[in-house]
Amino acid sequence: MAKGTAISEAEAANRMMRLAKEIARHDKLYHDRDEPEISDSDYDSLVLENRALEEQFPHLVRANSPSLRLGAAPVASGLAKVAHARPMLSLDNAFAPEEAEEFVARLRRFLSLPADADVALTAEPKIDGLSCSLRYEGGELALAATRGDGMVGEDVTANVRTIADIPQRIAGAPAVLEVRGEVYMAKADFAALNERQEATAGKIFANPRNAAAGSLRQKNALITAERPLRFLAHGWGEVSAPLGDTQFEAMQRIASFGIPVSSQLARVDGIAAALQHCVRIEQERADLPFDIDGVVYKVDRLDWQERLGQVARAPRWGLAHKFPAEQAETTLMAIDIQVGRTGKLTPVGRLKPVGVGGVIVQNVTLHNRDEIARLGLRLGDRVRIQRAGDVIPQVVENLSRDEPRSPYEFPKYCPECKSEAVAEDGEVDVRCTGGLICPAQRLERLKHFVSRGAMDIDGLGEKSIAEFIALGWLNGPSDIFRLRHRRMELIGRDGWQEKSVDGLLDAIDARANFDPARFLFGLGIRHVGAVTAKDLMKAFGTITALQTAATGDNAQSELSNVEGVGPVVAESLVDFFHEPHNRDELAQLLGLAKPAAFVSSARTTEWSGKTIVFTGTLETMSRDEAKAQAERLGARAAGSVSAKTDLVVAGPGAGSKLKTAAELGVRVATEAEWHAIVSAAG
Ligand code: IVH
Repeated sequence: MAKGTAISEAEAANRMMRLAKEIARHDKLYHDRDEPEISDSDYDSLVLENRALEEQFPHLVRANSPSLRLGAAPVASGLAKVAHARPMLSLDNAFAPEEAEEFVARLRRFLSLPADADVALTAEPKIDGLSCSLRYEGGELALAATRGDGMVGEDVTANVRTIADIPQRIAGAPAVLEVRGEVYMAKADFAALNERQEATAGKIFANPRNAAAGSLRQKNALITAERPLRFLAHGWGEVSAPLGDTQFEAMQRIASFGIPVSSQLARVDGIAAALQHCVRIEQERADLPFDIDGVVYKVDRLDWQERLGQVARAPRWGLAHKFPAEQAETTLMAIDIQVGRTGKLTPVGRLKPVGVGGVIVQNVTLHNRDEIARLGLRLGDRVRIQRAGDVIPQVVENLSRDEPRSPYEFPKYCPECKSEAVAEDGEVDVRCTGGLICPAQRLERLKHFVSRGAMDIDGLGEKSIAEFIALGWLNGPSDIFRLRHRRMELIGRDGWQEKSVDGLLDAIDARANFDPARFLFGLGIRHVGAVTAKDLMKAFGTITALQTAATGDNAQSELSNVEGVGPVVAESLVDFFHEPHNRDELAQLLGLAKPAAFVSSARTTEWSGKTIVFTGTLETMSRDEAKAQAERLGARAAGSVSAKTDLVVAGPGAGSKLKTAAELGVRVATEAEWHAIVSAAG
């Protein structure tokens, strides 16, 4: 709603009430859950609409006005809260160059400078990450905190210690120095992380900012350590001695401590030069390794910053000049379905090519079946698209929505292997059920089949699997047991000698009559992990008996009767064993590899039914072996520590799990003590 629009006071009050609620809801989604529902620019429009109304009706400004709040208050994420020594402020936004000029005019008026006086500024990219304050005491990193509500943030010290960009110790700094900046994830690292997440059926992040937030705000710093987070400083909080006379000098000083500062930080003479720098940065935007959503201008002289102070939530001396949302209109020409490595069907919109912010866009992600329905998309529709977070373009609006045409039908079969594709109850994702033969899933499936926890076939790594797939030798797991026919051909290939080939073929033969639970786990049926596979084999004895049960009339109830099997697992088993392609492949597989009869390896010991957690680096055994030992004692190996945990075996580097164990009074043993327990029980 534009400023000055005719609106009655009652309407304004009502709208402001709704905006406050709406903005608070989006703040929560963005800050607490890292799952925004709307784009940044749509969010900005809500904030701007609210601000315009507040300017028009100042007496209606609400006590809970979004303009008086700074992001969301820290949530119950399990991280400790910390009060900031100095508040972590936000910035006012501008969108048009004139607004940036007005910012400087305001500064001059406030400082009583002549209208033509130069106001030197710094200009630097506005990084799309999350604010973080790093407190160094005596040169040592003592505390790291997120912004939270600006006054109280979350203690993320342990997590921040895993970020390579951030030095643990700095030399030559004031006794107390709080460096503030942005924790972010580079675009390429974000894409790779999402690929890994997809492969392991983990959470897929909407954009690099959410990935960075989700990675930093972890209770377990070991998870943060696996995430490629970066840091760029843009300011400071408490300091026991000044860092310089100007913003630029102070930032150079911070850089001299070995803390990264943007290479695009520039000192400029006035707003005209600042705007030029902004244009340069915008031109380089697409090539930058990380997302930026604007340029930040700051008054260079720190004595002036001091005099200017702050209003409500933002300093008077700073401004975020946001880039306009990059949108365009075009036509949706086709919807292609891509099948991910875990069988997820993702619709991709093919567009009539259109330029958006200097990049030609011809593909958009449509996310899933529900998103297509939400937008009411059909082929031939005119759509408004946006490059969100600069990564994958999205459809923001269907401009042809009202045209009467029949809706798009989402495929019921996998386009890669023609197996049935289904969405589980309550899930938005549609997945291919032809796990064993689907080419899109082949590499991942085969890798899983031969992995340590499953068939454990030595010498058949990802590289060899990919090589054999490319040769057309491996389509499904049964082909692994046919590799012997390729012996001579394989010996002739680069990188293979008679010895290595025979080693591989022997390793495969050794698994011909293997543990059926491992075999079942290796089939990669959704929700059937190693423990569930064992439970199922304990109940059914053979794969064939399981198959009979899963394809019988009372499949759901018969399967759900098994301890450890709920309706979700039961449904997944039914889907898997009903798919003709899977049955066919399984029949071949069982003809070549005959799993042995299931032998429950668990004995009754004092550990029967107990829960054990292994954490830290185990030095004398692999985690799989440790778990197997626990299971042989009749115990369960769990991933996280709770009041139900009976024992935590901790190796070096154990972190939060050890802490939780101590808090809950759970018994803790070293690896050596664990070995003693195992041999005593034996
Ligand atoms: S200055 C008191 N500089 O944007 C000044 N902030 O919208 C506060 N941000 O909370 C920050 N890049 O998380 C500043 N170059 C930059 C920035 C930047 C990103 C973030 C920061 C801040 C938010 C304000």
